[in-house]
Amino acid sequence: MADAAADIPVEDLTPDQAAKELERLAAAIARHDRLYYQDAAPEISDADYDALRRRNTAIEARFPHLKRADSPSDRVGAPPAGGFRKVRHAVAMLSLDNAFEYQEVHDFADRVRRFLSLAPDTPIPFVAEPKMDGLSFSARYEDGVYVLGATRGDGAEGEDITANLATIDDLPRRLSGDVPPVLEVRGEVYMTHSDFEAMNRAQVEAGGRAFANPRNAAAGSLRQLDPDVTAARPLRLLAYSWGEVSAVTWETHHAFLEQLQAWGFPVNPLTQRVEGVAEALRFYDDLAERRAGLDYDIDGVVYKVDRLDWQQRLGYVSRAPRWAIAHKFPAEVATTRVEAIDVQVGRTGQLTPVAHLTPVTVGGVVVSRATLHNEEEIRRKDVRVGDTVRVQRAGDVIPQVLGVETDKRPDDADAFVFPDHCPVCGSPAVREADGPIRRCTGGLFCPAQAVERLKHFVGRAAMDIDGLGTKHIEAFWRDGLVATPADIFRLPGHRDAIARREGWGRKSADNLVAAIEARREVALDRFLFALGIPRVGEVTARLLAQHYGTLEAWRAAMERARDGDQGARDDLEAIDTIGPAVAQALVAFFEEPRNMAILDDLAGELTVRPAEGAAPAGTGESPLDGATIVLTGTLAGLSRDEAKSRAQAAGARITGSVSKKTDYVVAGADPGSKLRKARELGVEVLDEEQFLAKVGSG
Ligand code: IVH
Repeated sequence: MADAAADIPVEDLTPDQAAKELERLAAAIARHDRLYYQDAAPEISDADYDALRRRNTAIEARFPHLKRADSPSDRVGAPPAGGFRKVRHAVAMLSLDNAFEYQEVHDFADRVRRFLSLAPDTPIPFVAEPKMDGLSFSARYEDGVYVLGATRGDGAEGEDITANLATIDDLPRRLSGDVPPVLEVRGEVYMTHSDFEAMNRAQVEAGGRAFANPRNAAAGSLRQLDPDVTAARPLRLLAYSWGEVSAVTWETHHAFLEQLQAWGFPVNPLTQRVEGVAEALRFYDDLAERRAGLDYDIDGVVYKVDRLDWQQRLGYVSRAPRWAIAHKFPAEVATTRVEAIDVQVGRTGQLTPVAHLTPVTVGGVVVSRATLHNEEEIRRKDVRVGDTVRVQRAGDVIPQVLGVETDKRPDDADAFVFPDHCPVCGSPAVREADGPIRRCTGGLFCPAQAVERLKHFVGRAAMDIDGLGTKHIEAFWRDGLVATPADIFRLPGHRDAIARREGWGRKSADNLVAAIEARREVALDRFLFALGIPRVGEVTARLLAQHYGTLEAWRAAMERARDGDQGARDDLEAIDTIGPAVAQALVAFFEEPRNMAILDDLAGELTVRPAEGAAPAGTGESPLDGATIVLTGTLAGLSRDEAKSRAQAAGARITGSVSKKTDYVVAGADPGSKLRKARELGVEVLDEEQFLAKVGSG
């Protein structure tokens, strides 16, 4: 190689060499990206490309101050375990909230009206669309030319399937007429029943394996590394929404669907505009009746508020729009036999009974296990080994046991006795005072908990340490290499010992060390999720990160809340969607001294990046960016939720109580004590009009 620095291990680089390497890698990665994305003529394998990016990340982790403005780690295209490059979505691909009952659809419409401050009887026009049971895609067009295709992935980042999507005849390659310079069209890739059956027959005849259902077949076909294989599969698609668009020229959703068709995209012909909930529900009933006769799978109806100005005002809560809901069809049910019941111990010590079943097909998927939730549930349903049970599977959730057909119970079936000791470590397992959950008291002494906690810590949505799988964690734990989360970051000190282990070697140990080093700097939200605090999932972790900004600020606030500071507690509970239960779980975490030791220990090993401020949605500068606001009283023109969401979109943080740190108090009618407190502390008070002027026009 021309440049000697290219061969030097990351840990031996001098700062000068590191800077040169980062420059070389940025240029090389940019070149390979160009070859791959634009010319579709890659010169190196995905694995080699992967190695370039990994080295770049590892050098940046060791020398954060040398990270370049044009660093490849800030750009699209990380290559992946499965072989596809990653694509960061310019606009997140979100999911939908579900409704199962008619009443929940009425509630949805009520929420929309309340949010928009509309009179209770105002009709809301919706577009009702069949909810396709396929997999979602996003197709990007620049100046009318198809340039990029992606899967949904985790919503923020998907996989690059540009070549594969292009093999589907339904996808227009070039759009004619009036096309915005940037346009991302989203929809669903699926397979019809007749195509699925023909394809499965051919697969089996050729000695291959049959797919379980059309959805799996579509997913398996789309995610082929060789696009020629995808091309040979009978895939179709339907379009129904958009991502990034340089200029939105339509004013309603149904106008957008017409535009899609004019551009050449197929749109589900069953889609209809409906005038309000009553008509929406008629559409649902009608479709439910026609469902069995359709040649493709649908699992419900999606209702979308038709008016775009309303959609924009309604916005999003965590991962779903407030302006749409999925009304699901009832889940499918099947009957099978319980072969065994075992009790599993989770990361937080929770004991969960699981039924092992005679495999049965439910809704197109083979089910062999179902959760029995907890001690109370198993007692209430009186599920016994040998019983015939009805199982249900809805969407992607874990199959559930609905109930027992007691007339089929064998005479020798005994009632299940729930253990009062942990089946893994033998510690007493005790019932929580306020609920049906029994937990092992073994804490970190319990291998199940310690190991589950470590697996969670290194997992993809948490610290995301590449190549450190659950089997490795189990083996390292057993042999005493890791006991606590911070130990993961001390593994590089055991590089030689790891290299000598069975199944490892020099190269894989080096790779593991590089993967660990690459994660020594981590975003606050990932870090908070990785801690595995009960009830703090990815969404909550992100909210906490955005609210508190830095690890230090979060920790200080949590310690104050733990020590009885009501202001800190109110502030925590005022975060959108965080309620008393989450607040209590956080306080409980901070009450445990061992958790404090874990935090201290981790702080010594890691750099936790502050959260990037809650960015105003594409509006750039806003006078409220970074401001802390308290709302009080009733506003005339907008609901409290809308005020909150507008302020947040402008980059402000909403808190529950007034303090010296509050920038503004927004006071409506009948404001109460918060206004008095603001006056006392000299905090600036805004009336509704002044507030609206600052948040800007929607
Ligand atoms: S709209 C922001 N419309 O359902 C709203 N989704 O449960 C984006 N889906 O990830 C989704 N049919 O894969 C929309 N007519 C339809 C749909 C649909 C199927 C899927 C989609 C989405 C999932 C959410």
